[in-house]
Parts: sequence; structure tokens; C-alpha cells
Amino acid sequence: MKSIIITGATGGIGFECAMQIAKIAPNEQIVIACRNQKSGNEAIQNIKQKTRHKNIISMPLDLESLQSVREFIKQFSTQPHNKIIALINNAGIQNVAEKKLTKEGFESTFGINHVAPFYLTLLLLPLMDSNASITFTASGTHDPKQKTGMPAPIFKSAKELAYPTPTAEKLLTAGQRRYTTSKLNNILTVYELQRKLSNTDIRVNAFDPGLVPGTGLARTYSPFLRFVSNNVFPLLRFFIPNVNTAKNSGKRLANLAYSDSYKNAKGKYFEGIKEIKSSTDSYNVEYQDTLWTSTIDLLDIKQNETSVSLV
Ligand SMILES: NC(=O)c1ccc[n+]([C@@H]2O[C@H](COP(=O)([O-])OP(=O)(O)OC[C@H]3O[C@@H](n4cnc5c(N)ncnc54)[C@H](OP(=O)(O)O)[C@@H]3O)[C@@H](O)[C@H]2O)c1
Repeated sequence: MKSIIITGATGGIGFECAMQIAKIAPNEQIVIACRNQKSGNEAIQNIKQKTRHKNIISMPLDLESLQSVREFIKQFSTQPHNKIIALINNAGIQNVAEKKLTKEGFESTFGINHVAPFYLTLLLLPLMDSNASITFTASGTHDPKQKTGMPAPIFKSAKELAYPTPTAEKLLTAGQRRYTTSKLNNILTVYELQRKLSNTDIRVNAFDPGLVPGTGLARTYSPFLRFVSNNVFPLLRFFIPNVNTAKNSGKRLANLAYSDSYKNAKGKYFEGIKEIKSSTDSYNVEYQDTLWTSTIDLLDIKQNETSVSLV
């Protein structure tokens, strides 16, 4: 039995992804990596009840803290089913309120959406099965050409994004831009990591779930905008393509990560079930390399650290 690790599976798209994984992977162990053990246990009960899956566990992981990432690795690696067949980096936030910091003092959207999943992935690499998949939940909002109404990302090094200089932008725009930039970072990471793993059968892909109203992602928006997101946006799916329910997107994410239909997909970007091109910036090899090396520097990982083979 191998493990499928899913972050952000206590609600929204990740929960539905875990539900689908439980249906299509009855003989694997599902690990719900979450910061709130009560929510993790509720998700497990719910999924077990609906699918009868026997091997779902939760393990503490708070992406706001790199220490928590290291503790997760320690706990995961010492349990019996520590070979990973799929890692699904799905957890993410969009903070449009006052800027917040992670435990290490990084701007929180950047820290939670990029730095911690990057670190988690690097530290888990030695435990990957030779055919493992690594999937990042990105977002179409990273691409200005998609005209999603979100501010365009601005590429910067990890250090500049971790310690941003104050901007004259409104809170909402600044927070949204940090979010779209973090999603561009996910895709740049996917392409760079796949290149570094090119002599292996491990596949690394990015997934855009589309607009999925009603999840917890809008939790820092004003009550009015949350109301619109929960009650008006869901209706858009009848008129606009790429507006989805969490159930539909979660299912697609699970299939991309585990189903045989995607076993040849390496270093690709999927909008739902469709492989499409991501933004022009995401293919910029210099950006990919700069983000990679500056994130490694930020994490202060040294060449000789044995657990990290790709530095
Ligand atoms: N909804 C959309 O329209 C949309 C569109 C494009 C992309 N996405 C992406 O889809 C992914 C899932 O979002 P969602 O819409 O399903 O939102 P959601 O309902 O808010 O789910 C986010 C998940 O991430 C977890 N999480 C947040 N901060 C965490 C932390 N510090 N440590 C560990 N886990 C943490 C949350 O756990 P808690 O329960 O503990 O808060 C929750 O399980 C995100 O990466 C998001 O960027 C969403």
C-alpha cells in the first residue's frame, strides 16, 4: 500500500478531491495533511461513510510554519506506508485583508501558497514512488490573457515576495495580486521541478479548477463580496465556461493526480480536464530558475543536505 497525500482536504476542492481519491484508489492510504485535526477527522468520517475506504488518516501540517512542514515529514516518514504515489499540493489562501506574516516572517499568501508546498515537495522527494505524481492546484487567474478580472501577477524573486515593500495599491488589489503571483509561482515551480526530474518517471503538473464559488477561498472578502461569491457566482456556471462546483473540480484534480488517463502528462497545465497553455510568463525559463534558486536561498537549504537531492 502506498500513500496519497492531499493538502487542503478539510473543505472546498481538496475535500472533494479526497472523496474522489477514496473512490478510485481503494487500496492506497490517503493522508489528509491539515492544520486543524478536528476538521481533518470530520473529513475522514465523512469520506469513510460515503466510500467505505479503510485507510484514511490525518496528520498535522500547518503551511504557515516551516517547522510544521519538517514535523510532518518526520511523522509521515516513520509510519508504515511511507512510499508516496501521489502528492496533491492543493491548500491555498487568498488574503485580501491586512498583510499577514507566516511564522518565519514571510508574507503569508506567498509563504502558504508557494514556499511551504515547495519545501514540503522537496523534502518528500526521497519518499516518492518511481511513478509518483505531484500536482499543484494553480489558477487561471495567473494568466492576464484569461481576463478573469484579477490583477496580473508580477514576477519577483522569492526574497522580494517574502518581504514585500509597501505599495500604494488598495488592500483588495494588493491581496489579489499577491494571490495571482503565488499561482504563477506554482506553475513556474511545476515546470522547473519537472525539468529537474526529467530523467525519472515522476510527473509534475498544474491544475486550474476554474472559478469555484462557495469554497472558503473568499473568507477574507467583505460580507457583501462573500454573499455575491456564495449566491451569485454559482449561477454563472450555467453561462460561462470554467465556472465549476467544488465537487466537479475536486474530482478532476483527483483524476489528474491518480488516474491512468494522465500517466503521460509531464510538466503540463490543465484547465479542468483540458491541457492548455499557461501564461507567457510561466514559460520564462529565467523566471523558473530565479524563483527556484531564490526559494532555495530563502529556505537556506545547503547543497550538502542529504534529504534534498535537487538543490
Ligand atoms: N475556489 C476557486 O475559485 C479557486 C479557483 C482557482 C484555484 N483555486 C485554488 O484551489 C485550492 C483550494 O481552494 P478552495 O477554493 O477549495 O478553498 P478553501 O475551501 O478555502 O480550501 C483551502 C484549504 O486549504 C487549507 N489551508 C489554508 N491555509 C492552510 C495552512 N496554513 N496550512 C494547511 N492548510 C491550509 C484550508 O484548511 P482550513 O480548513 O484549516 O482552513 C482548506 O482545507 C487553492 O489552492 C486555491 O488557490 C480555487
